[in-house]
Amino acid sequence: MLAVYPSDRVFILTGAGVSAESGIPTFRGVGGLWRNYRIEEVASPEAWHRDPRLVWEFYSMRRQAASAAKPNPAHFALAKLEDALQDRLFVCTQNVDSLHERAGSGNVVHMHGELFKSRCDTCDRPPFDDTNLYEPPAEIPRCECGGRIRPHICWFGEVPFELDRIYAALDECTVFIAVGTSGVVEPAASFVAQVNDRARTIYVGPENPANVSTFTECHLGKAGEVLPAFFRRLCP
Ligand code: OAD
Repeated sequence: MLAVYPSDRVFILTGAGVSAESGIPTFRGVGGLWRNYRIEEVASPEAWHRDPRLVWEFYSMRRQAASAAKPNPAHFALAKLEDALQDRLFVCTQNVDSLHERAGSGNVVHMHGELFKSRCDTCDRPPFDDTNLYEPPAEIPRCECGGRIRPHICWFGEVPFELDRIYAALDECTVFIAVGTSGVVEPAASFVAQVNDRARTIYVGPENPANVSTFTECHLGKAGEVLPAFFRRLCP
């Protein structure tokens, strides 16, 4: 069980593993998305310029899978933690699904973007809610400026969103918990190394992540089983 004192500030980093028990495939490992798709063909600026229909086909498939999924006990445990800790909790997810919000979390930073938002690839019009499935042979939708509408996703080679807020929260945290992330994708993989000289650092997932040596504690198990028990004293 986690002990959190009134002076503590908790930073949570979630990855694909937190949504695995909701039926959304992870990226690496058996059944992972990157076993069936090549990143450079569907998730990079080059892919978008080469074949935007294929990119939309990939994200439309993912929109369909994510809209059929429901939050699991790990998402609910983190929403209850927000009720208990309020602004002493910072949740940063690498996930683009909306399962944290659907479980009741009100304040989640999506560093890799959001699956149900789109934006123009040319102008500064802000990202907007979009649940459409753009499957071939549909035309790629256009912005008023003439640019093409693309998924609001941080692709490989692009800079993740909200890094200033994220690094400010890392600077303040005294407890850092990573859940269901393989610890190989930067910059998220290095967050723990930024804080482990002064914060308690904890990993939760069924297997050790690649950066396991930088954590002070590792709790092996599925997020949906470990997290509710872990936070029980804080959120009875
Ligand atoms: P990965 O697919 O790399 O890793 C998923 C992790 O979840 C693995 O370490 C699994 O052991 C763990 N896992 C599996 N089932 C779990 C469960 N029930 N409970 C807890 N953990 C479980 O996914 P990420 O680390 O999130 O980026 O990947 C990081 C980024 O790489 C993604 O955001 C995505 C991807 O390419 C972009 O698309 C930009």
